[in-house]
Amino acid sequence: VMRAGFVQFNPRFGDVEGNLQRIEELLRNCNLDIVVLPELCTSGYLFTSHGEVESLAEEIPDGMSTKRLCRIARERRMVIVAGLAERKGNLFFNSAVVVTPEGYRGTYRKIHLFYEEKLWFAPGDGEFQIYDVGFCKIGVMICFDWIFPESVRILSLKGAELICHPANLVLPFCQDAMVTRCLENRVFAITANRTGVEKRGGKSLTFTGMSQIAAPGAVILLRSTEDREEVGVAEIDVDGARNKQVNDFNNLFKDRRPFL
Ligand code: ACM
Repeated sequence: VMRAGFVQFNPRFGDVEGNLQRIEELLRNCNLDIVVLPELCTSGYLFTSHGEVESLAEEIPDGMSTKRLCRIARERRMVIVAGLAERKGNLFFNSAVVVTPEGYRGTYRKIHLFYEEKLWFAPGDGEFQIYDVGFCKIGVMICFDWIFPESVRILSLKGAELICHPANLVLPFCQDAMVTRCLENRVFAITANRTGVEKRGGKSLTFTGMSQIAAPGAVILLRSTEDREEVGVAEIDVDGARNKQVNDFNNLFKDRRPFL
């Protein structure tokens, strides 16, 4: 059984140092095996120019945010999955890093960009990928990837037992959809959403909180508030994701007929 959690908080746009400080404070007294942080959790979300993206995006793993997250993961002995704005040469990605107590493990670059993210970021150029972190096999996807059911399906077919899902949600549908994804694929999922409002360049976005941890069987282990900063924790028995047999006759994966 592992202790899994999310950090739901309100990042301040452009205040990378302050946001990292806040993350460290929120995790200070937490005893967790794995924790998921929101999408773009050190930069903020509502970019208004390419210049802002260029100044806030960081190299991974050499940038300040990944380094700081690696230190927290090492000191607190936890796996951290966190959404970051990534600079790679002259390309920018909406990415999520996986860091463990042993160091940086990998990056997922958001495949399905949402709305004006398409102005600022290139779509992910990699695959949905599995990380075996010892106690569990995790898969990573970001926010709007949820509306494409193949995101969780592909991760699950590749062996993910726990979906780590950083988010900056502005619509109210994702949380319930993720419960269904967990039913369809018999996996666990942690959706780490942010709170607060960003008002920039004449635009305003309200983020919807309600971060959650969902389990096979369409069980909601934990759902957070809409607006409070908090760390949510649930105990997960990952064995619950390993058997895809529904009854004596049906297996969620072997019964699929995708080529008809
Ligand atoms: C989203 O993908 N940030 C809605």
